[in-house]
Amino acid sequence: MIRPDAENAMRDFPATDWRAAIDALAAQGYAIVPAALPAALWQPMQQEAGELLQARAFAPARIGRGTQIRRTQSVRGDDLCWLAPDMPAGGAYLRWMAALQEALNRELFLGLCEFEAHYAHYAQGAFYQRHVDRHRDSNARVVSAVFYLNQDWQPEQGGELLMHGEEAPLFSLLPQGGTLALFMSAGMPHEVLPAGRERWSIAGWFRQHP
Ligand code: OGA
Ligand code: MN
Repeated sequence: MIRPDAENAMRDFPATDWRAAIDALAAQGYAIVPAALPAALWQPMQQEAGELLQARAFAPARIGRGTQIRRTQSVRGDDLCWLAPDMPAGGAYLRWMAALQEALNRELFLGLCEFEAHYAHYAQGAFYQRHVDRHRDSNARVVSAVFYLNQDWQPEQGGELLMHGEEAPLFSLLPQGGTLALFMSAGMPHEVLPAGRERWSIAGWFRQHP
């Protein structure tokens, strides 16, 4: 079924000037871009994710890789659905991130060759304990990108992305629709605090050849 808004979502996003974000990422290891996309472009992604959840295309998140994979709701409670190029809204997001990948390689010589991403759904009360995105047995993940899909998130609703620093937190970020957070996948421990309402996002990783 093609709805007018789904058709709209199939169009590519306008080109983004990534220079300020890339400079911040290089200088401090992370960058936060509020209103990276207007609501008219991210709401179709939220809608698509909702429909995929309804269609049971989401699976409980797992921890680790390969033989280390296990499912522990006490560590992370999100459900996820991997993005594919043929998803009307998710595909547009992947192409948007492909442009960022090119800019990262051009400006920072990161040698990124791939981007993987999934929709993430946190039911009310779900969280993701302190972790690092780069897996212990693979250095493939270089830069993490989290994009939020929540209309009018209020501070009292929790669900912040909390980035830990050596002594004090580096930042605490509400999962406000349209905000993009970039950070280095290695050596940056972070967590998702318990969400006071349903929480939608896209978590993705730019990868190098391991
Ligand atoms: C992750 C993650 C952060 C967020 O999926 O690895 O840390 O704010 N997500 O959703
Ligand atoms: Mn993470």
